[in-house]
Amino acid sequence: MNQKTMLLSATLTNGYGAQGQAWRAPEVDTTDFTNIEAQVKLARTAERGKFAFLFVPDFPGTSDDMGTTAPVSTLEPIVTLSVLAHETSRVGFIATGSTTYNEPFNLARQFKALDVLSRGRAGWNAVTTGSPIAVANYGENVRPRQERYERAHEMIQIVQALWGSWGKDAWLRNVETGQFLDMDQLQPINLSGKHVGSRGPLVIPPSEQGQPVIASAGGGEYGLGIAGRYASVAVGSSTYDFATTRQEREMYRSAARQAGRDADELKYFTGFMPIMGNTVEEAIGRRMQMDEHLAPQRVPMLGMMLGLSLDVSQADQPLSALQLESARANPGDPRSSRALEIARQGWTPREVLAHGVIDYAPSPVGPPEVIADYLQNAFEAGIADGFWLQQATYSIADDFVDQVVPILQQRGLYHRDYEGSTLREHLGVPQQYGQDPRIS
Ligand SMILES: Cc1cc2nc3c(=O)[nH]c(=O)nc-3n(C[C@H](O)[C@H](O)[C@H](O)COP(=O)(O)O)c2cc1C
Repeated sequence: MNQKTMLLSATLTNGYGAQGQAWRAPEVDTTDFTNIEAQVKLARTAERGKFAFLFVPDFPGTSDDMGTTAPVSTLEPIVTLSVLAHETSRVGFIATGSTTYNEPFNLARQFKALDVLSRGRAGWNAVTTGSPIAVANYGENVRPRQERYERAHEMIQIVQALWGSWGKDAWLRNVETGQFLDMDQLQPINLSGKHVGSRGPLVIPPSEQGQPVIASAGGGEYGLGIAGRYASVAVGSSTYDFATTRQEREMYRSAARQAGRDADELKYFTGFMPIMGNTVEEAIGRRMQMDEHLAPQRVPMLGMMLGLSLDVSQADQPLSALQLESARANPGDPRSSRALEIARQGWTPREVLAHGVIDYAPSPVGPPEVIADYLQNAFEAGIADGFWLQQATYSIADDFVDQVVPILQQRGLYHRDYEGSTLREHLGVPQQYGQDPRIS
């Protein structure tokens, strides 16, 4: 690992948290979905924790379970982040934007405006939008993957060209001569591909970091092609063991090398979802309270992970000796072996679930030292450059920042303050203005 200290980030979503029932948690105000103060509070918490950025996923559509489960996304990423940029001064923001359902000019304009107004703290998580529910909102069916990714390459290259189309020193602002701009430095880009094009220029000056950072999530052959060429941040998929996560990081690094870049220009982040309390019992008690309404669906899911037939009537009895004897970790689900290990310790199915065994990311459970140990082991094993906190409820971010971050700092594993003011500086990635000349 080249970096001496780890990077941290957290998720900015619907105002409640990553857990589907977070909106019902005791500490949550049920109106937080529309309450900008909840988002401002999270952004300030992330900044207090010296986080590199908040990651803002976006799924522009409904989901089947919205009758009981809050939508995942913010009301709208750029609008929300415009407020947060004004209410904070250091933390970065990586917002998701579709390469399929935007034109390069409007996306370039929004993200660069956010970058300038936040003084160089913006990033773009470029996604190709393959969900049928989301694409129906644009009057379409899902486009073939190859077409989506062809368009994505064109989009990113044209967006970056637009970002660099206002020359760095173009803004003369000479009151005496009356020259506002040096028009020689503000030139059209005249780029058009098979799917998108733009004349330009974009009338927005450079930000403190030049232009926004590109991020990529999801992997796969096509996704790696995007990340390797353009991204400074890769957000890993759901991996649950160190070996698989390290392998994924290596795939991103080799994609960057193949594109002619230095692998260290691409920072790989992997998720974690801590379940915190003063003791393990308190931590899972807290989580059980939040998951109370989920047992009817989740106990049978746990049964499938263990090769047993379980229903909600068995939620509060530890598995019998007979059940434990016939239980087998489902080889198709990497979370199953941990679920089995916890069940064997004598916890009831409801308690096993409260250990986060079906969360989308590894879930260390217990007091702050346990969470810090997990991150230390993971970082020292070289599985990631940074860790992406998926907080079950927004309040977990406060607990993490106030209780875990100081331990990481004391152990010399995490910085005590920001070294710079821009997102590129937080990440330790190079400046870029316009397209990367190394990428054709
Ligand atoms: C951690 C992570 C975060 C993601 N965030 C989003 C998102 O916010 N919006 C979105 O539309 N897709 C998101 N994706 C999906 C990917 O961008 C990608 O579309 C997906 O992995 C499917 O790949 P495909 O485009 O090759 O079909 C995310 C994926 C991962 C692993």
